[in-house]
Amino acid sequence: MELENVISLEELEKKGKSIFKKGNKQIAIFKTDNDIFAIDNRCPHEGYPLLQGTHDEKCVLTCNWHNWKFDMKTGECLTGGDNVRTYPIVIKDNQVFLELTEPTKEDIEKEIIKGLKTGFEKRQYGRISRELARLHFNNIDMKIALKKAIEWSYNKLEDGTNHSYAVAADWFKLFFETDEIQNKISYLTEIIDYIALESLRQPDFSFTKNKKLWDSELFLESISKEDENTSIELINGAYDSGLHFKDIEKTITEAALMHYNDFGHSLIYVQKTSYLINNLGNEIEHFLTLALTRSIIKATKEDLLPEFKNYDYFLSKMNSKNTNTTNNIDFYLKNIQESMKIVTANFSKDNIKSIYEELLKSNSKNLLYFNIDYQFMTDNKVSENIGWLDFTHAITFSNAVREQCSKYPELWKFGLIQMACFSGRNVNHLEKNLDEKKYYVTDYNKFKLDFLEMISDHGITAPIYPAHLLKTAIAIFDEFENSDNEELKKYLLASLNRFLNSNIKQKHMKRTIKQSIDLVSLDFK
Ligand code: FES
Repeated sequence: MELENVISLEELEKKGKSIFKKGNKQIAIFKTDNDIFAIDNRCPHEGYPLLQGTHDEKCVLTCNWHNWKFDMKTGECLTGGDNVRTYPIVIKDNQVFLELTEPTKEDIEKEIIKGLKTGFEKRQYGRISRELARLHFNNIDMKIALKKAIEWSYNKLEDGTNHSYAVAADWFKLFFETDEIQNKISYLTEIIDYIALESLRQPDFSFTKNKKLWDSELFLESISKEDENTSIELINGAYDSGLHFKDIEKTITEAALMHYNDFGHSLIYVQKTSYLINNLGNEIEHFLTLALTRSIIKATKEDLLPEFKNYDYFLSKMNSKNTNTTNNIDFYLKNIQESMKIVTANFSKDNIKSIYEELLKSNSKNLLYFNIDYQFMTDNKVSENIGWLDFTHAITFSNAVREQCSKYPELWKFGLIQMACFSGRNVNHLEKNLDEKKYYVTDYNKFKLDFLEMISDHGITAPIYPAHLLKTAIAIFDEFENSDNEELKKYLLASLNRFLNSNIKQKHMKRTIKQSIDLVSLDFK
């Protein structure tokens, strides 16, 4: 036990309070009518001295700067955010001693995680970042915070995995790429804050605990039937029998690609889930897979919409021939039917790379040429509610296709035909007279660095917006760095350049209200 003689009892009684300093430590000591208390002097909010606070007869100490209140016995924060550390007092020979024995690393971690949970449940950005800083300075791996955020949230997401998990993978990538602690804490705070927002005040949308022996065929069938219970029982059975995500990832990827699901979200979520599991470890794989499975089940099957008619027909024609000759595989400005036809006509094992590159190029050109007027229309039809996301998703989806289908090549045909759907659906919303040269990027490294600088202090309140800036940029950087096709690389960067430098309308008040009135009034005509 480490004891420090700090002051005589007599002097403390005379002064009422005292400060003890050792190294970086500052401890405030208070003498009340009945007791003596020792508390870290730095207020855990913004660091102002608690010694200058006010205490009452109930042993509540108030920091006078922003009114946070602490229980002087336990250090528990009664109003405000973080708790403060208190120290035992020993009186011996009329001298006041402080017991400074450091808590064990396990106890410190437990205390920080407790604080983080409160910050998470209340969605307190500052507190989340302070607890992360505490993890860092106590030499505790900060990744634990993200694992906990996933554990606390996976059953609070009504529709399963959403962008808060997806972009967690992208922020996490940046986390690994930087050595700067400020950036590392920023990126993790962004992730945890967004997940906290998505689970804020949500009830438990619990998953069945029952298990069934893993069976990939049955899993795909259950997903098709939107049967969550059976699908989840199979996931539970898989993990219970010792399988891991990597063992069932192919089937889950297949499930995500069985339809042109939810604007490509399902496959993107599989890709990001896989990244998170690979980098956080298997302890969170079960939580993430449950949420992912629910999101795939709930996804809209867009191939069933009239504009994608013949999807099944074209898909059925994609039998891998042995040919490497291609015939007019330029997709730019081709509509959905034409685009699917071109994929079908040229599909073969040897042509996958060229078809993929042409589709990605077309989707990049679409993004580059998006007619921004669409996002400012207020008297348009619902079918003309077109915005940046219609275009950026084509790119993030393509990136997910390359990654997942390279792992499971038999799934390429699904990925490619869905990229064709993206390419074709956007052709009617392009600008006619855009000077594309204005957006060419000549210095990739500088462009990337400028982006990282901007995203590290993006200043946007709603996390969904920086999420899309980041998701798109990460996908484009990844494609750029993986490609040797100069024409494609030019359009990838130009499209991102225009997206990052354009206005994003975040809310459509007039349009939404007008469309609501138009729809409802139809029943009253
Ligand atoms: S610094 Fe103490 S409440 Fe703000």
